[in-house]
Amino acid sequence: MSTPALRLVGVSRVHGTGETAVHALRELSLDVSAGELVAVMGPSGSGKSTLLNLAGALDRPTSGEVEIGGIALGGLTPEELARLRRRRVGLVFQDYNLIPSLTAAENVGLPLELEGHPALVTRQEVRATLKSLGLGGLADRFPDQLSGGQQQRVAIARALIGERRLVLADEPTGALDSVTSEEVLAVLRARCDGGAAGLLVTHEPRHAAWADRVVYLRDGVVVDGASPVQRQGRSREHPGAAATRQPSGGLTTGDLGAGAPAHLVGRLAPGAADGPPRRPT
Ligand SMILES: Nc1ncnc2c1ncn2[C@@H]1O[C@H](COP(=O)(O)OP(=O)(O)O)[C@@H](O)[C@H]1O
Ligand SMILES: [Mg+2]
Repeated sequence: MSTPALRLVGVSRVHGTGETAVHALRELSLDVSAGELVAVMGPSGSGKSTLLNLAGALDRPTSGEVEIGGIALGGLTPEELARLRRRRVGLVFQDYNLIPSLTAAENVGLPLELEGHPALVTRQEVRATLKSLGLGGLADRFPDQLSGGQQQRVAIARALIGERRLVLADEPTGALDSVTSEEVLAVLRARCDGGAAGLLVTHEPRHAAWADRVVYLRDGVVVDGASPVQRQGRSREHPGAAATRQPSGGLTTGDLGAGAPAHLVGRLAPGAADGPPRRPT
């Protein structure tokens, strides 16, 4: 059997210590193969975002091991982790996290630019990726000139450009209407059919139907996937959630600072990389 794109083995994550300790995940094991889209469902606070953050190397487990493409993350330095994240992992969040001062094409190309790909190669890849997502005509628009669904498709394009084969989407349709949601999910599905591995957090059983299987979490453990799913309202997050959320498809502000492409530096001023202003909810 080939190496899974993502493997979690006996992963636990405890936030805090002592009496206030929160066991966000308990002994969770999960494999996601290339070509597979796995939906993650469960009530608010059940550990879904914690799972995605661990899978995306944005956070480290308290115990257990996470592997991306066969590479165990536990032994990597922060620099190696950042590099692996940039190269292999794409993250998509509810609020898009596009950089407002860059065009759609620049947003999508940024991960490749940070990896030092030649500008011409980047431009070609960006064009092909945008086209495959039906965004070919929107390359030069800024995020605020795009609809929510278009922005989210740009975010997915950015999440999957280059060699990154693992896409982690945390309620990517949370801010979209149902028609646009289906479009975004169709894109995600198509990318997985094309060989990417995907993890999709969603509250909507209808959206989970795009996945090959559903992992249902409750209190940090996987419970029977066949359990009836309670429909949730918009999830309420703990106050730390926004702080741990990463801008730019998994590129942290630090990643951006390190090797930011010279021609974009002026437009990646501190703050610019911290994502667009929040939409009113
Ligand atoms: N950085 C953190 N600090 C403290 N508690 C946290 C942190 N992140 C998550 N938690 C807690 O861990 C549990 C799981 O949270 P989370 O993974 O965000 O759940 P979900 O995404 O399913 O709503 C919750 O009880 C949450 O309050
Ligand atoms: Mg969450």
